[in-house]
Amino acid sequence: MNWKETYESRKCTAQEAVQGIKSGDRVVFAHCVGEPKELVTAMVDNASNYRDVTISHMVSLGEGKYTWPEYKDNFRWDGWFTGGSTRSCLEQGHGDFVPVFFHEVPKLIRQGHFPIDVMMVMVSPPDDHGYCSVGVSADYTMQGIQSAKMVLAEVNSEMPVIYGDTFVHVSEFDKIVETSYPLAEIPLPKIGPVEEAIGKNCASLIEDGSTLQLGIGAIPDAVLYQLQDKKSLGIHSEMISDGVVDLYEKGAIDGSAKTIHNRKMVVTFLMGTKRLYDFCAKNPMIEMRTVDYVNNPTVIAQNSKMVSINSCLQVDFMGQVVSDSIGIKQFSGVGGQVDFVRGAAMSLDGKGKAIIAMPSSTLKKDGTRISKIVPYIDHGAAVTTSRNDVDYVVTEFGIAQLRGRNLKDRARQLIEIAHPDFREELEKAFQERFNASCK
Ligand code: COA
Repeated sequence: MNWKETYESRKCTAQEAVQGIKSGDRVVFAHCVGEPKELVTAMVDNASNYRDVTISHMVSLGEGKYTWPEYKDNFRWDGWFTGGSTRSCLEQGHGDFVPVFFHEVPKLIRQGHFPIDVMMVMVSPPDDHGYCSVGVSADYTMQGIQSAKMVLAEVNSEMPVIYGDTFVHVSEFDKIVETSYPLAEIPLPKIGPVEEAIGKNCASLIEDGSTLQLGIGAIPDAVLYQLQDKKSLGIHSEMISDGVVDLYEKGAIDGSAKTIHNRKMVVTFLMGTKRLYDFCAKNPMIEMRTVDYVNNPTVIAQNSKMVSINSCLQVDFMGQVVSDSIGIKQFSGVGGQVDFVRGAAMSLDGKGKAIIAMPSSTLKKDGTRISKIVPYIDHGAAVTTSRNDVDYVVTEFGIAQLRGRNLKDRARQLIEIAHPDFREELEKAFQERFNASCK
């Protein structure tokens, strides 16, 4: 059979494809913009035919119906990153969360920690040789395809072909479902005066010729807005968003100073608007690789002047960074934060910087304003970036440089960049904590 005959013989509807899922299976699907929505919907519609199907994935942009209480006997969510649509099943007791560095996910799949019965993916239409591209999300998708007992593929006419380690032959798919719907888009974040000030503080740390990693949330985009006058910036980042396209078009990003993948932007998934996806489609400058390569700290470290920019929820006096939990509540996941913090620390020429940037305060659901810089982290919260790994912490009020500093110095610097409304109480807490004056 040639590939076209193979393709035709495996074509079916999404409803037919999900008949291959059996009770007790583990189903993994591509995440974020790569989520195969029609297959996921068909699986949930077919719920009454399954019991105890385990579902795992990283970032979800979908509805996450398989986590709803009415499906708790059919599906059990065992996620690697939580979000708005998947979080509540943890509190309701019928889902669970696996703490995992993103770069280790493919290895854990290979080693059998996450055995996959069914992998569901979204790919581009095949090229003349029968190869489809996993497009916007190579990360663990490629390993999932290689390790799963069964692969269900949505061939979406809207999925762009992205160059790099993204190509899969149609013969690898057990079932093929043709679809055509626009990719999910993430609205551009709102950048107010606080984010602008944080962006400016971060920009002051970024030298020409730096290679950047940009994390999730509004802050990394706010930083990008402030980099328009820089030169020879490069990208080696788990994900990129629309802000990178602006900087490329303004000439600030050209990758010319990169020490590996010179002149290329290295990424493992995309998360933005159609403008970003169109920019990356068949663009020789984009090198999409799997997450065990892109997020591997030893690979990241081969970039000179590597700068990672990530956000967090809370930082304590010692510099312990909480980014993925609010007290005992699992809020997101470590993702690639620690991968890049460590990679930047090991950066080739010793000029790497790991920046954790956040607004100094936030509003709680009940309307009370709280400081994100605290003497002690909340009861039950998990440390994401440890006090041994932390480097720069940035708020709208300034920059604290913590690496190599003792505990009192760290706390003093952090209080200086805390919101002024909280500095007095933080100074009192300093006195109690260290039995010494803060001044
Ligand atoms: N206590 C209680 N609530 C807090 C809080 C705190 N200390 N800090 C923030 N919050 C609340 C906010 O008020 C907000 O609530 P809302 O959703 O009701 O508005 C919510 O938590 C999210 O905060 P926000 O600052 O808007 O988040 P963000 O979208 O900028 O994302 C992180 C920030 C830290 C959650 C996100 O960057 C993350 O998940 N990081 C971990 C993974 C990572 O860094 N990966 C990097 C590679 S991709």
